[in-house]
Amino acid sequence: MPRYRFKDMISTSKFTEPSHEIFYYGDFPNTFAWGTTSSAYQIEGGWNEDGKGVSIWDEFTHKLQSQISDGSSGNAACDSYHRIDQDIKIIKELRGISVGYYRFSLSWPRIIPTGEINDGINQPGVDYYNNLIDELLANNIQPMVTLYHWDLPQALQDKYEGWLDQSGIIVKAFADYTDFCFKTYGDRVKFWITFNEPFITAQLGYGVAAFAPGHYSPGEGVYYAAHSIIKSHAQAYHIYNNTYRESQKGQIGITLNTNWVEPMTTTDLDHIEASQRSLAFSTGWFAEPIFNSGDYPDVMIWNVGNRSEYYNITYDRLPKFTEEEKELNKGTSDFFGLNHYTSNLIVPCSYYPEEGPTYDSDQEACGDGCAEWPPSASSWLYQVPWGIRKLLIWIKRTYGDPVIYITENGISEHFSDGLDDDIRVNYYKNYIDEVLKAIKEDDVNVKGYTAWSLMDNFEWAEGYSERFGLHWVNFTDPERTRIPKKSASYYRSLAGSGTYVRP
Ligand code: BGC
Repeated sequence: MPRYRFKDMISTSKFTEPSHEIFYYGDFPNTFAWGTTSSAYQIEGGWNEDGKGVSIWDEFTHKLQSQISDGSSGNAACDSYHRIDQDIKIIKELRGISVGYYRFSLSWPRIIPTGEINDGINQPGVDYYNNLIDELLANNIQPMVTLYHWDLPQALQDKYEGWLDQSGIIVKAFADYTDFCFKTYGDRVKFWITFNEPFITAQLGYGVAAFAPGHYSPGEGVYYAAHSIIKSHAQAYHIYNNTYRESQKGQIGITLNTNWVEPMTTTDLDHIEASQRSLAFSTGWFAEPIFNSGDYPDVMIWNVGNRSEYYNITYDRLPKFTEEEKELNKGTSDFFGLNHYTSNLIVPCSYYPEEGPTYDSDQEACGDGCAEWPPSASSWLYQVPWGIRKLLIWIKRTYGDPVIYITENGISEHFSDGLDDDIRVNYYKNYIDEVLKAIKEDDVNVKGYTAWSLMDNFEWAEGYSERFGLHWVNFTDPERTRIPKKSASYYRSLAGSGTYVRP
């Protein structure tokens, strides 16, 4: 039984006037940028309209319904494909005195139905994003655009095994797609993100098969997928850098997701080393090639190699970059895009699965949330505000003090929860305060913060059972009405400086 009736919600849906939030540690710099975010498959719907191609998430949700907790799909989602006006309205209201940008992703198969540009583009799909970008700018909201948020064209999966392909075809297909996007939208888009959380694509999509395309290969495929994603990212960066940067004057980078990993016993060297290994396998897997050496972290090369040896595997499960590729990888992000939600406690652990080595066992580190930390509606998401500060300091120290944009941070509630989302207000308050401490006390170069999510949406394998939005969405109403929650008022009041900042 839902806790709120729709009628009750409408009557309580007004914004309370924002008052400037006072932080104990002072204020955010005037130049700090605030945004909110979504992704194409999670909000757009219109899955087969106007010539859009099928994506791996369309296929996955249609064929493997049992993998989605409520058996749902993103077929209609928030219907954003037909409701640009409603989206602009709520972003604009949120803008108030703070929110200056909106991060969203482009659906590759909506723009290029088969994924390969020579097969042709889909003009209505191209126009949809043209309209969205124009409307945002007309309302003083800067677009921050993610080029890939997990919805690969199914045709690329069918023909080439998607990101598993090591022949270079997938890298070229992505490079052509991004080139087209820079050419088409780059006059107005000044902030590009190549990939959202490649870790999730590799591990959940091609490792343990919990996400599309549901390919199970936990000891090899997982590494191959990551390998072609890193090469594709580097290509996209160089295309932008060499051809468009000078005239379009934007920036381009990548968004990585990382939990903070706290050693279970902070005085035990083995625990500390295990947590460092865990960071190397999660963040370092992508960040080391892109922000540091051009290659994978030593500990990954070492551990994967040793474990292959144990199993008498003579080929490289962790593919090797050539010297030329390492050079191409290095320094290919103008900023460090960080998605962060939670933390884990880590202990060293060593086990040898019968089926063969896996990405998980290769790490020799195991982790989980702590039962004493306040939970959320997502089994994996515990509220650990201090974790974000530790993580920001670690990124600063490990990757040469990069400019950091927090491109996602947020918390879930249950489907039955309503507008009084105090849990989310508190989560944002506490996490944002820790971000401020990292800026003021630890001199971390954080330039922007993005709240996930603009509105409740399709939460991947959890369907609609978890709500992450600042706005409540009525998924049984064909209009998909969006109503601000308490957290929307709170978030709107944050910056206080009145400065309109572009990322
Ligand atoms: C993803 C989002 C997702 C959110 C909450 C992030 O990993 O980028 O698409 O909805 O986490 O799970």
